[in-house]
Amino acid sequence: MTSTTGGAPFVVGLGGTLRANSSTERALRYCLASVERQGGRTRLFAGPDLDLPMYAPHSLERTPQALELVGALRDADAVVVGSPGYHGAISGLVKNALDYIEDLREDPRVYLDNTPWGCVSCAYGWQAAVGTLGQLRSIGHALRAWPTPLGVAINSADQIWDDAGELTDPTIRDQLDMLAAQVLTFARVPRESA
Ligand SMILES: Cc1cc2nc3c(=O)[nH]c(=O)nc-3n(C[C@H](O)[C@H](O)[C@H](O)COP(=O)(O)O)c2cc1C
Repeated sequence: MTSTTGGAPFVVGLGGTLRANSSTERALRYCLASVERQGGRTRLFAGPDLDLPMYAPHSLERTPQALELVGALRDADAVVVGSPGYHGAISGLVKNALDYIEDLREDPRVYLDNTPWGCVSCAYGWQAAVGTLGQLRSIGHALRAWPTPLGVAINSADQIWDDAGELTDPTIRDQLDMLAAQVLTFARVPRESA
C-alpha cells in the first residue's frame, strides 16, 4: 500500500446513479477533488462503471469492467462510497458493486481490513439520507474497513448545486473536505497489516 511507503495515498471513489447529473456522483467528484487538493491520488467508479452483472457467488466469470473495479479496490489505501437513498436504503446498483468486494476475501489484506471508509448519501429527505448513510457505514464494518468519524448525508431537496452543477452550499463543501481529510489522515497512518 502506498501510504506506508511514503507515496500519495490512493483513494477509490465508488457510487452514484445511472442518472445524468447524479447528485451522488457530483458529491463524490467534489470529495475526490478535495482528496487530490490534499495530496492524494484518486480514481472514481461512477454510475455506468458500476453497471455490472449481478454478483453471483458461484461464478468466477468477471467482465473487464468488474476486474477493473476489483483491481482498484485491491490497491486502495482508502475508499469513499456514495449511494442515493432508494426506498429508504442504498441502491441496488451500489450494493451490487460492493458485493464484488467478496473477491478480496482471500487476499493478504482480507476484504478492506484496516482501510479507511468514507460514506456519502443523497436522498430527497433526511430520513432516507441518514438511514442510507448508516447502512453504508455498516457495510464498511462488515468489510473490516474503518468508517471515518464523519459521514456526509445530503438532502437533495435543498438547493446545494447551481445550474452548472457546482456545489455551492458551504456546509456540505466543508463536510466533504473534512471527509477527504479524514480518509487521508487514516490512510497515512502506518499499520501493521498495511
Ligand atoms: C427508485 C427511487 C427511490 C427513491 N426513494 C427515495 C426515498 O425512499 N426517500 C427519499 O428521500 N428519496 C428517495 N428517492 C430520491 C433520491 O434519493 C434522490 O433524488 C437522490 O438525490 C437521487 O440521487 P442522484 O441525484 O445521485 O440520482 C428515490 C429515487 C428513486 C429513483
